[in-house]
Amino acid sequence: MSGRYIDFHCHILPGMDFDGTNDVCESIAMCKLLRSQGVEAVCATPHFYPWNEDVDAFLTRRGKALAALQASGCPLEIFPGAEVQIFQSLSECRADRMCIGESNVILLEMPQAPFQSWMIPAIENTVYKYSLIPVIAHIERYGYTPEQLQKFAHIPKMIFQITASELKYKYSLKLLHAISACGVPVVLGSDAHNMTSRAPQFDVIGEKMAAKAGYFHKSLQMTQAIIENCLCAQHVLENTIRIPKKTEV
Ligand SMILES: [Fe+2]
Repeated sequence: MSGRYIDFHCHILPGMDFDGTNDVCESIAMCKLLRSQGVEAVCATPHFYPWNEDVDAFLTRRGKALAALQASGCPLEIFPGAEVQIFQSLSECRADRMCIGESNVILLEMPQAPFQSWMIPAIENTVYKYSLIPVIAHIERYGYTPEQLQKFAHIPKMIFQITASELKYKYSLKLLHAISACGVPVVLGSDAHNMTSRAPQFDVIGEKMAAKAGYFHKSLQMTQAIIENCLCAQHVLENTIRIPKKTEV
């Protein structure tokens, strides 16, 4: 596969996540595998669970893990961030401090539960308070209906992230078609956690993946257009995180 990609969702920092890499060696192996798949920059997005630790403690741990990775010959550009689990009073914690790099882009994880009415205002209050650009992590995982996706689409600057390895499945392509009707940009992330059960799989995107889209055989052109839109959104969001825009509060 050729190309130059950025991975917007990856648990690559050593020792940060209970389900992440065991040590720096495994993190470096993940970096090398991503590099071989065309990835040149990674958003390091360890889980932030507000019931486990406060923002300061999380950022201290993240700083040490990032330093360890960079001291070990990391072959990728790393933007430190977080995968922030949303909760009802999200706007009351300093979510802005967990944005990607120096940007105002934040990766948000929804609860593994059916859609609930408090979710939208929780995101809206946080986005408005800190002038953030919200990215909903692994949008394929929640099973939201088109009507529920529309509720997210009404939040300003909303972006969805889909897991690259899931693009080989029909349901993900079907979801992309539904999202395209909402007008929300979609970006890609590996959501890789390790080198075993959840290793990076960025090499399913592009023409190879589109050619597999038998389910949409009759609308293959449309599927390819949607994939191209993903890659365009990828470039736009990459430019956004490279230009510091964070608003001091
Ligand atoms: Fe994740």
